[in-house]
Amino acid sequence: MSITETKSNVSLENNKLGNSEQYRFYELPKYYDLVFKRNIDNDFEFFRSIFRLYCNFDVKRIIEPACGSGIFIEKFANHGYYIKGYDISKKMIKYCDQRLQKNIEIRNNYKVITGDMRNKIFKKESDAAFICINSLGYLRTDEDIISHFKTMNKSLRDGGIYIAEISCKCENIQNEIKKDDIWYIKEDNIDIKAQWIIKRYDIEKKIREIDFQMTIRENGKKKEIKEIHNLRLWTFEDFKQLTSLGGFSLIGIYNQNYESVSELSEINGELGALYFILKNNKTKSSE
Ligand SMILES: C[S@@+](CC[C@H](N)C(=O)[O-])C[C@H]1O[C@@H](n2cnc3c(N)ncnc32)[C@H](O)[C@@H]1O
Repeated sequence: MSITETKSNVSLENNKLGNSEQYRFYELPKYYDLVFKRNIDNDFEFFRSIFRLYCNFDVKRIIEPACGSGIFIEKFANHGYYIKGYDISKKMIKYCDQRLQKNIEIRNNYKVITGDMRNKIFKKESDAAFICINSLGYLRTDEDIISHFKTMNKSLRDGGIYIAEISCKCENIQNEIKKDDIWYIKEDNIDIKAQWIIKRYDIEKKIREIDFQMTIRENGKKKEIKEIHNLRLWTFEDFKQLTSLGGFSLIGIYNQNYESVSELSEINGELGALYFILKNNKTKSSE
């Protein structure tokens, strides 16, 4: 495999859908659910410990932007929280709701709706929010990212916490190669081979180009999905500045082992995906 770093030769003009592009993968929630099925028990406990550590009030109402098929929505609802999730994919939301409505016990503990991270505002404020597995990266321009944080500033109470799991740019792009870039899922009559490979950095446009492929074999039929996902190429400095412009202060950073990382250390992709803990400051937002 070869991955390269280029200054500016990626043609985003070819990308007809621009910033609001939707990927076919996210229009196939049944397969998304299988491909991104994972044990989230440790993340769940970590999020709760962060709420306890950084909030001087009980966290009861939560928002999850880009909630996908609702793996976290189900978990928090099951534990008595009221959680609202949204996603740009209507199919993902429909699938999530149909799945969760089957459980009578949690029906009143959640709400999922279609919405775009750039402009979704909830009138009734929540106590906390989180966004997982670099989903925030689907917002690529500074303008969209600031706009998202401003919507979250309005949707959360003053002092509310927003946990954002993002992956920063690696110093050496070769360090993006991971052992689990390709993985296999086997369930009943479905076999899936999935790959998520970071192919290229466009430094000038701040884009991380990902080669996503999925081969599905189901009931003797084969389906293939191949698509390039263009995500924001995060630097720590950009992230900190953009969140601040949206009305949030960075109050903590944690790695995938849930250990605290000093803000004064070199924050880069070599540390793996990181959880950035942001505190909402209603008086800081410009609008
Ligand atoms: C990698 S999935 C993460 C789903 C879920 N949070 C999880 O942990 O499994 C990324 C999700 O972001 C959604 N998405 C992409 N752009 C979005 C936008 N502008 N607003 C809301 N959701 C968006 C996609 O539809 C997709 O469901």
